[in-house]
Amino acid sequence: MILVTGGCGFIGSHITDELINKGHDVIVADNLISGSMINLNPKAKFIKADVTNIEQIEEIFSKYEIKAICHHAAQISVAVSMERPQFDVNTNVIGIINLLQMCTKYSVKRFVFASSAAIYGNPEYLPIDESHPLNPLSFYGLSKQMSEQCIRIYANNSNMTYGILRYANVYGPRQKSEGEGGVVAVFMNRMVSDQDCNIHGDGKQTRDFIYVKDIAKANVKALESNLNFTANVSTNVYTDISELFSTMKKQTGYTKQPIFTKPRKGDIKDSYLKNTVINDLLKWEPVYNLEQGLKETAKYFMNA
Ligand SMILES: NC(=O)c1ccc[n+]([C@@H]2O[C@H](COP(=O)([O-])OP(=O)(O)OC[C@H]3O[C@@H](n4cnc5c(N)ncnc54)[C@H](O)[C@@H]3O)[C@@H](O)[C@H]2O)c1
Repeated sequence: MILVTGGCGFIGSHITDELINKGHDVIVADNLISGSMINLNPKAKFIKADVTNIEQIEEIFSKYEIKAICHHAAQISVAVSMERPQFDVNTNVIGIINLLQMCTKYSVKRFVFASSAAIYGNPEYLPIDESHPLNPLSFYGLSKQMSEQCIRIYANNSNMTYGILRYANVYGPRQKSEGEGGVVAVFMNRMVSDQDCNIHGDGKQTRDFIYVKDIAKANVKALESNLNFTANVSTNVYTDISELFSTMKKQTGYTKQPIFTKPRKGDIKDSYLKNTVINDLLKWEPVYNLEQGLKETAKYFMNA
């Protein structure tokens, strides 16, 4: 069985769907702090558990034969990580250590982890590749960096192999307005209810937007592989926020102009990630371009 932590959340629920479509048996462990049972695939087994609670986690491993873990349960907000670093580190670092200890104790073979472009900090060059220096600017980024290193340490001392996936800005159906990469969800929510949309700064800042179904496919490939690797999962394409806004406007029928506000402190100007490593290793590449991904996302938000 494959254990998906955070499988009631945005990305984890799409991974669960993709795994089940491919015939895998899936157990989802989630404490439902930001996830929802509505997102859960009915064919998945669900266990309400908190990754910071070692007893709750061990109960899963002692009851079921877990052969692989896809770890997506996390504190995902950069802002929360700055306000409550203890909470961030507890969820993200203690949480992963609990799981990794269970991997050693119960001989789990494979560990796939959702890391983030936040570990790179301000880009020193573009596109960002995996050798780019790691200079996280937030506790969230730091907890992802620490999590990555915890995985490597455990893997060096056991038979477990790992795939670390560093995501660009993920968007798609089921995303909430808060958190990393939430700009698409924020605009979608506001556009479908005809509210004003704010663009921080001049709208010329760029991001690498990747559709959640492409992320789900990358995870399934990473789970089915036994290679140890760390790779960006991205489109290698940059889009500025004004362009994103215009495309979404067309797709939702929104008629208002954006309101330009002061740039947000600490926001990175430009970012996009090279994706050749994952392409070489797993033969993965994104299938959805931005227009196609946003079209699917708009359908979801308009019917929600
Ligand atoms: N959304 C993005 O653009 C993006 C980018 C880079 C990395 N990531 C990473 O991908 C993963 C999934 O993010 P998401 O956007 O789907 O967020 P999400 O909030 O929708 O999903 C996280 C899930 O984890 C659960 N959870 C949180 N704390 C938990 C705990 N202590 N124990 C058990 N379950 C817990 C939540 O209830 C939720 O279902 C996270 O690790 C996040 O850091 C996301």
